[in-house]
Amino acid sequence: MSSRVVYFNGRFVPEAEARVSIFDSALMYGDMAFEMTRTYNRRPFKLREHLDRLYASLRLLEIDCGLTIDEMERITLETLERNRPTESADMDWQIMHDVSRGPLDVYRTAFAEGIRPTVSINCWPLITHMGGFAPKYASGVHLVIPAQQALPAHLVDAKAKTRSRLQYQMALLQAARMGAGRWPVLLDPDGFLAEGPGWNIFLVTNGELLTPEPRNILLGVSRATTIELARELDIPVRETNLGRYEALQADEIFCTATTYALVHATTFEGQMIGHGGPGPIFQRLLEAWKNRVGIDFVAQAGHYAEHLPAWEEAQANGPN
Ligand SMILES: Cc1ncc(COP(=O)(O)O)c(C=O)c1O
Repeated sequence: MSSRVVYFNGRFVPEAEARVSIFDSALMYGDMAFEMTRTYNRRPFKLREHLDRLYASLRLLEIDCGLTIDEMERITLETLERNRPTESADMDWQIMHDVSRGPLDVYRTAFAEGIRPTVSINCWPLITHMGGFAPKYASGVHLVIPAQQALPAHLVDAKAKTRSRLQYQMALLQAARMGAGRWPVLLDPDGFLAEGPGWNIFLVTNGELLTPEPRNILLGVSRATTIELARELDIPVRETNLGRYEALQADEIFCTATTYALVHATTFEGQMIGHGGPGPIFQRLLEAWKNRVGIDFVAQAGHYAEHLPAWEEAQANGPN
């Protein structure tokens, strides 16, 4: 058992003791907003942007979590500080926020303290996520279009980051049936590229960076960072409707998300993209990302991959 602690409803508790009730609205409806932030060099990257998105999701769900955004930020940093000593000094972290409206009112007699929102913040060493991901920085990923479509914003707005994610799970199941390691990119009901189950998509065509309009997608923090960096590098950027046709003509395609920042796609629907390796615009953006966050996170992932078996064994053998 680890000695990590979790902020859970106003207290810091051992990770294994942080449990959400079976009567929670999160379990009943997927009615929970969440966020995932990562650290680079132990400092949370764009924490405020992630918290702004969390509070925007909460407004949509009509949940008052009982904390101001400043309080949430302070408690987040405290959670990270409390967990840091459980790992070597060079470990980076994933920080997860999960907020629901709490147990359903009909079960109120089971909660002596009354019905309150469920608010948790956990920190997890990035070695597991990034150690497992490391080979993809070299191999790239294979994109496919699953039968499952993205939900249009007028039904359920993907701009809110919530645990109601069955469409993404269905897409993942369908992609897995299309071949091992396939990554699904969902089309919206108009046939335009939306996003993957945990990432945004970019194409490069004739030197221009293209990405789906901010409509039926989560507005990724990494998407915004990529656009900022492209502008700094004088790479033209356009948010527009993109379909299967545009993707098949693209010189480069890549995906962005908080944990790995960006990864190139090797194929789209079974056809090679460009020469199949990371393209020149992707490579410029990758270098700019590394400079921006102050660490070579590709090398770091490789280092994590090497140390992951020993780390997992140490975790299994007792508290760290
Ligand atoms: C559906 C979806 N799209 C895009 C993203 C990428 O967002 P970010 O760059 O903020 O991690 C995520 C992240 O989890 C996601 O769940």
